[in-house]
Amino acid sequence: MKFIIAEDSRKVGKKAASLVAQEIKRKPEIVLGLASGRTMIPFYKSLVLLSGKEKISFSGVACFNLDEYVGLGSGDKNSLRYFMEKNFFSKIDIKESNIHFLDGKEKRVRETCKKYEKEIKRAGGIDLQILGIGRNGHIGFNEPGSGFKSRTREVKLSDVTRRDNSRDFNSLNAVPRKAITMGLGTIMQSRRIILLASGRRKAEAVSKSITGKITEDVPASVLQRHKNALFVLDRGAAGKLR
Ligand code: F6R
Repeated sequence: MKFIIAEDSRKVGKKAASLVAQEIKRKPEIVLGLASGRTMIPFYKSLVLLSGKEKISFSGVACFNLDEYVGLGSGDKNSLRYFMEKNFFSKIDIKESNIHFLDGKEKRVRETCKKYEKEIKRAGGIDLQILGIGRNGHIGFNEPGSGFKSRTREVKLSDVTRRDNSRDFNSLNAVPRKAITMGLGTIMQSRRIILLASGRRKAEAVSKSITGKITEDVPASVLQRHKNALFVLDRGAAGKLR
């Protein structure tokens, strides 16, 4: 599995943004898979800056976000959709109709998930998937134990994930217990994958994913089976690589 080490979280974002920008230049109609979360903030910031500087248009780009909390709508400040609007979509020229998102308010979850998979297929599949990683090795919201062949579905969030993400909510109790996420099988079908990780808190999960056993206990370890996956790490996140 390939990885590169940047100095800090800002440089991780910058490096990943330059790789994505290159891909958009090569294929202006690219289909991107996108992630939210703190690690992504410097990444989106850099990508927005770079697109201004290098006049990169997102008008042909389509994107599919990985996940959403069940029960939160786009207007909810803690929804992942809101995060994406604030940090990225509102700052680029992407067409609204090209933004694909799982709706956390949708009652017919199964249909929603099936439809999402179909939409990805109809778009020609994901060319480039961006990922973050949880302390327990989750990618998307595929928590430990998720099947390697899993598809988009509703999942229960683990205690670690709820605790980690509670920093954005008023209390732990306010953190949704469920989410909808693309599956590991869905993610693995992307043609290229770039995973970003920063900070020492992620070092254990990163090391297990890159050099450990491929096991459903560490969801990101499945990426060892992908032909074109790259980890972009800062020194902290790379700290336990042997
Ligand atoms: C979010 C997502 C998650 C996060 C992960 C890391 O869309 O898919 O897998 O990437 O939980 O989150 P941060 O960056 O907040 O540590």
